[in-house]
Amino acid sequence: MSATSTQVRLASYPVGEPQDSDFEFVTIELPEVGDGQVLLRTVYLSLDPYMRGRMSTAKSYAAPLRIGDVVLGGTVCEVVESRSPKRAAGDLVLAFTGWQTHAVVDARQTQRIDPSAPISTALGVLGMPGFTAYAGLLEIGKPKAGETVVVAAAAGPVGSAVGQIAKIKGARAVGIAGGPEKCRVLTEELGFDVAVDHRSPTFVTDLAAATPDGIDVYFENVGGPVFDAVVRRLNRFARIPVCGLVADYNATEQPTGIDQRPGFMRRVLTLSLTVRGFIQDEFVPTHHHDFRREMGEWVRDGSVRYREDVVEGLEQAPAAFRGLLRGQNLGKLLVQVGELPAPAIDSAGARARP
Ligand SMILES: NC(=O)c1ccc[n+]([C@@H]2O[C@H](COP(=O)([O-])OP(=O)(O)OC[C@H]3O[C@@H](n4cnc5c(N)ncnc54)[C@H](OP(=O)(O)O)[C@@H]3O)[C@@H](O)[C@H]2O)c1
Repeated sequence: MSATSTQVRLASYPVGEPQDSDFEFVTIELPEVGDGQVLLRTVYLSLDPYMRGRMSTAKSYAAPLRIGDVVLGGTVCEVVESRSPKRAAGDLVLAFTGWQTHAVVDARQTQRIDPSAPISTALGVLGMPGFTAYAGLLEIGKPKAGETVVVAAAAGPVGSAVGQIAKIKGARAVGIAGGPEKCRVLTEELGFDVAVDHRSPTFVTDLAAATPDGIDVYFENVGGPVFDAVVRRLNRFARIPVCGLVADYNATEQPTGIDQRPGFMRRVLTLSLTVRGFIQDEFVPTHHHDFRREMGEWVRDGSVRYREDVVEGLEQAPAAFRGLLRGQNLGKLLVQVGELPAPAIDSAGARARP
């Protein structure tokens, strides 16, 4: 069987915010499925902030995309055709096929997904973002009962899991998010103790009021002015897992104004702070097994809840990705690229109709 794929390729390296012209839509004929390979149909595509770094040639922990490459990304796919004993037509798998409707890949590059959970969760709370929260918070943040844990981008998949895991460990969870609706979701739906709006003109004083005993763990997702405000509230021996700096991903120039570095380094010294960056795959060998077991239980028993923000159609991917970096998503941002397979459970937990 031969198939076509509609692909979104990188047409140019974005300068600042990615524009539609930085992407090119192309439809190609796929090769025949070879021995050991599968033909996949994309159901969900994950959109994640790290993709912005791959659209740049600046030195980073991973090689950039080349012009003309299909934009990379995690996907949940249905196997359409298999020439591997590992997979059968109809299997639902986690893959890394990126921004395209179909792909032919080696079956070993796919992982079967848990059919008892909504399939979208393999890209969110039970996937890479949930794992990032789990490993970064527990291994570096080490929250203790009674401590105050603060996380920014708190309504997103990483931040919302960080706050809820902090609660499970007996800590007080303070979420920082953009706008009143995200803050409402944090306290009313996701169990954070307090939420603070970083877009409010009173953010700095609101953060101080929300952290009367200071901050013991700051899970850093954003950088920028949020970081500057948090630093002033840190306690002695505070831990800072540095997970992401999304406020700067579209930056085209250095920040101006007072240099915050001397003040921060003085605090690192005098407060005995631990600042530790990480890329989640460092912890896969040591923590992924426990993550699957514990996070699976927490999601099943409702102690960790999640939000998903699903846009429909691959053609929406560039605009949705732009929105992610502006904070327009509420929860894990996914593109539903193709129809849900009949027996699958969708992102709302409902079984799809045939
Ligand atoms: N180290 C790793 O291995 C690893 C793995 C996964 C993710 N990450 C990082 O973790 C962070 C969160 O990822 P995610 O997938 O959960 O993303 P996300 O929260 O769904 O999306 C990013 C959020 O960042 C916030 N934001 C954007 N610009 C901001 C600014 N100037 N100031 C403050 N907040 C801003 C927005 O939320 P608001 O509306 O609330 O501002 C936006 O919704 C990102 O930095 C990402 O790169 C790192």
